[in-house]
Amino acid sequence: MAGNLDALFKPKSVAVVGASRKPGKIGYTILRNIVEYGFKGKIYPINPKATEILGLKAYPSVKAVPDDIDMAVIAIPASKVLDVAKECGEKGVKVLVVITSGFAEVGNVEAEKKLVEIAHEHGMRVIGPNIFGVAYAPAKLNATFGPKELSEGSIAFITQSGALGIALMGWTVMEKIGLSALVSIGNMADLDVAEISEYLADDENTRVITIYLEGLKPGTGQRFMEIMKRVAVKKPIIVIKAGRGKRGAVAAASHTGALAGMDQVYTAAFKQTGILRARTVEEMFDWARAFADQPIPRGEKTIIITNGGGVGVLATDAAEEYGVPLVTPSEELKQKFRETMPWFGSPRNPVDLTGQAVVDNYVKALNIAFDHPDIDNIIVLYCRTAILEPIDLAKAIVELVRERGEQSKPLLVGMVGGRDVYEAMQYLNEHKIPAYPSPERAVSSLAAMLRYMRYRNRIIC
Ligand code: ACO
Repeated sequence: MAGNLDALFKPKSVAVVGASRKPGKIGYTILRNIVEYGFKGKIYPINPKATEILGLKAYPSVKAVPDDIDMAVIAIPASKVLDVAKECGEKGVKVLVVITSGFAEVGNVEAEKKLVEIAHEHGMRVIGPNIFGVAYAPAKLNATFGPKELSEGSIAFITQSGALGIALMGWTVMEKIGLSALVSIGNMADLDVAEISEYLADDENTRVITIYLEGLKPGTGQRFMEIMKRVAVKKPIIVIKAGRGKRGAVAAASHTGALAGMDQVYTAAFKQTGILRARTVEEMFDWARAFADQPIPRGEKTIIITNGGGVGVLATDAAEEYGVPLVTPSEELKQKFRETMPWFGSPRNPVDLTGQAVVDNYVKALNIAFDHPDIDNIIVLYCRTAILEPIDLAKAIVELVRERGEQSKPLLVGMVGGRDVYEAMQYLNEHKIPAYPSPERAVSSLAAMLRYMRYRNRIIC
């Protein structure tokens, strides 16, 4: 049935069942997002009370549409969903995106079962119910009732929490975190996190898969592990697993009806399947940003280049804590670094260019780090000084990477300072150099990349 998932991400035509005439309603917002984000396929509003919505001809039912429909987004009350699902099946719709709440999450288990039965009888797949929708940036598809715009990139985000997903849509735009796909999975009545991940593992527009997970459905653990093992060899998967504690597990159960318990079991399963487990949303996207924009490390040996001793020490502590091996420079390498700094700098690791450093010092040190075979990974740190404007450094780094062409070593940046430092980080992130507002977050992200490299090397070799 995998072919049907193309209908979920790259449909040629979409019907919105329950496309409301009233701005502010969910069905209206979904239709507006599909239209205004720029979907190029055919769009059919379905509403028996309307003739036209947002300038598009409306139809009383899917059966009244004269063309084929790949995807039907359903945003009508739960009591009407089964009848509409049947009509969609008879029409030949391939995938149902069921926004509607009021199914298994409130004990309406039978109706949810019936929905899947109807779908499968007609060869349809179901995402949801109880979701805020699906977006896929390369197809300019935003079939959600979240914000209209998406920050486009190569991170796929699958979320079991709709509200969190909607909130993060806005946050990713602000933080320049580029998404390829955004999938709200809700109750996972049919399509689940594993099957969506499997599809995205082969998606050429996705480099890393991030997942907000509350729990798997009972009896699906083994299958989850088998599928995710295959996915992790192809692409890094980062999961934030909520409901860690006892009270959190109860909250998750009443949220999506999922089994959240036994946190240690999840930890072990993630480890075995190569899934990277993040503790916070911020950490998940920190790591994802690194995977999205940088090559997977080829080795462990890491150098830190800094203009501040203090941040260098903090990064060194973090490297030890997170398991990032720092290279001990040879005499020959130290001599090379010495030429990039004043006499009172340090060519050891961290390479301390001192507070006197200007763009040229960083550029020389960076070129050495990129060229030298003893170095696999580079962390650049910057503390705000009056000597070097942060944006000048950011531009120089972007230019250097561009001039060098194919980048073979991961480069991550940590910057500390005020508003102008934030702007410089935004510039770096926009130009695919992951930049973080602390040395620890840069090191933590590289550590995640190294854990993934080690996992993949173990599995492939
Ligand atoms: N076919 C087509 N259109 C229909 C049909 C039908 N069979 N029946 C009704 N409609 C039309 C209605 O006339 C209405 O259009 P109008 O506003 O122009 O009159 C439209 O479809 C919507 O129907 P309503 O009865 O007004 O339903 P309402 O919009 O109030 O609620 C909804 C529907 C949004 C799906 C609601 O039942 C629901 O489930 N809400 C929760 C959704 C949600 O939160 N999902 C989880 C997201 S995740 C998160 O946490 C945010």
